[in-house]
Order: sequence, then structure tokens, then C-alpha cells
Amino acid sequence: PKLVLAYSGGLDTSVILKWLSEKGFDVIAFCANVGQHEENFDAVKAKALNCGAIKCVVSDLRKEYVENYVFDAIKSNAIYEGRYLLGTSIARPCISKEMIRIANEEGAEYISHGATGKGNDQVRFEMCAQALSPTIKCVAPWRDAEFIESFKGRKDLLAYCEKHGIPVDAKPKANYSVDENLFHTSYESGCLEDAMCGPDESMFKMTVSPKAAPDTSEIVQIEFVKGIPTKITNMGDGTEITDSLELFLYCNKISGKHGIGRIDIVENRFVGIKSRGVYETPGGTLLRAAHMDLEGICVDREVKRITEGLANEFARLCYNGFWFAPEMELIRHSIDFSQRDVEGTVEIELYKGNVTIRGRKSPKALYNADLASMDIEGGGDAFDYNPADANGFIRINAVRLKTYAALRAKDNA
Ligand code: ARG
Ligand code: SIN
Repeated sequence: PKLVLAYSGGLDTSVILKWLSEKGFDVIAFCANVGQHEENFDAVKAKALNCGAIKCVVSDLRKEYVENYVFDAIKSNAIYEGRYLLGTSIARPCISKEMIRIANEEGAEYISHGATGKGNDQVRFEMCAQALSPTIKCVAPWRDAEFIESFKGRKDLLAYCEKHGIPVDAKPKANYSVDENLFHTSYESGCLEDAMCGPDESMFKMTVSPKAAPDTSEIVQIEFVKGIPTKITNMGDGTEITDSLELFLYCNKISGKHGIGRIDIVENRFVGIKSRGVYETPGGTLLRAAHMDLEGICVDREVKRITEGLANEFARLCYNGFWFAPEMELIRHSIDFSQRDVEGTVEIELYKGNVTIRGRKSPKALYNADLASMDIEGGGDAFDYNPADANGFIRINAVRLKTYAALRAKDNA
């Protein structure tokens, strides 16, 4: 039978590829280009064929990923458990969708991946796949008793490569697991499993340490239309970028240069395990801050209160693998609706790990400087704001507080 394997070219998926073909599968290796840094896809393809793939498909998903996934995260301000910008989570539906497209094109009944049996990724890949192709079957070697029995550790994987003539990276692999795409790079497991043990400076790929960042700041202006970044201008050297992918990559570059977007956290996996992760999300950190600031001037207070709740749900659903769920569809449409007046420009200063907002303007602003002013009485003709009305406003809002205080006072009586 035909099977599409999500293949990275690394040790695990190379062994899996060979193992599956020995089991009798016709393996089509699939490499998603979601903007991994310095990846040589020709080499990955050659290696896949060398490991026994009948075919290897490399898909450049970068633009699709930026426009239909990353920008959705920015638009919604999504953040998991208040800290994680979902850089791995949100790539999974994009990769899964292409994997299913290839499976359909090739007439493959099976898919496979190298995610472990303890993580989020297995759930995301398989939930997305099933949502898009209800009859697809999945082989998950890291949950297969026979596979696990044969490969108890890295030593067994290396021995298998030796036996089957699979080339292994000359330099020993880092003692942690890396997942990368243009939105972020994650580092987990290995030496990082000790939650007190800090990351080594040499492991970061997208950012410098704030300590090593330039002593002079840089200022950019970012323009948004309907909550989506449409232009970035470097106010220092005049660089202007409007193409979605180029714009995002430029945000990565300039934020990375100034040491922006590193975090070190312990998060809760969907399967119930706590996991320590170190992430760098330079461009995403910049764009999220800029977008949130623009919302401040463009979005109504009560709409904002509701979309904050939606952002939370968006993050949870994305993290847990429910990208193609009906409730996610509802949320994404609702967020789009909330963004129709999120238009304008934000000016930001980048300096040693900090994103400092300097100002914002919008042709659709709800902000009214006259109305807010402490120097001007009232708010002009259109607004019947009378400070004296605040007397009653405060008195009536305080009714419940006084009632409650009276009850509490009896505690001490
Ligand atoms: N903990 C993060 C998440 O669940 C990152 C996962 C990294 N994945 C990986 N295959 N190394 O989204
Ligand atoms: C894995 O378990 O394959 C990586 C980590 C995760 O998916 O949470």
C-alpha cells in the first residue's frame, strides 16, 4: 500500500522511512518547506530516495503558511498559557493539509509521522488529517510496540542506519530536540528536561542575546489593513517591504538582530504532561505587539473584551490540534469580522530585546483626543459628555460595593 510520510531528513524519520518500506509500504516522502533555516531540500530529497522512498515531494508552503496561518495568529493575538506564540502548533495544520493533498493525488491510504507518543504533535497531525480525509489511516511508529521494542534509544537508531547504509550526520546531534519554521524555533528535551538548566547561547538560530544586540536602537513603522501587516518601513535606512512573506522574514531579521522574542517556559501539553520548552519567535513578537497596539486605537472596548476571549480559545484549539474544527471556523470568522477597521500604522523601537511602541495612527480610529483630553471640557458637539454626569455614574456603580461591604462588616462584628 502507498503511504505518505512527513519526512525531515533527520535520524528518526530516516529510520522510520526504511522501516516502513521494509514492512511493505510504498513510501512517498513528503518534506514541507515551512521556512526552516538553512535547510538543503535537495539533500533531504536525495536522502529520502536513498532510504527507500519510491518518491519524494518537497512543497514550498512558506507563503501559504505566512498568509493563512501565521497572520491568523497575529490577527487574533493568540498566545498559549499567556506566553507561547504557537510557533510549532500552527505549522501542523498547514503541513497536514499538504500531506493529505499529496495522499489524495497519489492514491495513498496511509500517512505516517515521526512524532512521539507523548507529545502534542501526534495529536495535531492526526486530528488535522482526519478532519480533511475521514478515511485516512495513520501509522505512528513511535506508538507501535514492535518499533519501540527495536529502537530503545539513539544507539539502536544509529545501528540500524549502519546496517542499512543510511548516512548519518557527521557532527553528533545536539542534545535537545529542535523544531523550526519561519515563525519560530523550539528547543525541547535532552539537557533542557532539567527545568533549572538554562539554554546554551549557541543553540539559538534566529535571535542574538539581548546582551549581544547593538547599542543603537532601530525604529520601524508597520502598517496593517484588516488586522494584517501590509507594509514595514525601516525609518533609519528607508527599507520598505510589502510582500507578505518578505515582510515577515524582514520582521524576523530585524527583531532577531535586536534580541527580541526569546522565552523559556514550562507548558501544559494536551496529553496531560508538563513540558519545558525554549522558543524564539522574533518577527511574531514584534508583529503581535504592533497589532495589539493598533487595536487599542481602532477596536471598541466591548468588542475587544470578546475577542480577548476568542484569542484564548484560538490558542487552546490551535495548540490542541483542533484547527479544522467547527468551533475554530467560527472563531476565525469572528476574529476576521472584528478586524475590519483595524487599519493604520504603528511606530516601534527595537532595542536589546525590547519592543517599545512609540506611536500609532489610524484612518478608522475610535480614539478622540478632544473627548479624552483633560484640558478640554466636554467632547465637542457630537458628544454629550458632561463630567457632572459622572457623579451619578459612580454612585450607582458603587451600590453593590456598599451592599457587599456591609455584609463583610458583619464578619468582624
Ligand atoms: N511544545 C511546543 C508545542 O507543543 C513545541 C513542540 C516542538 N515539537 C517538536 N517536534 N520538537 O507546540
Ligand atoms: C513530540 O513528542 O514528538 C514532540 C513534542 C510534542 O509534540 O509535544
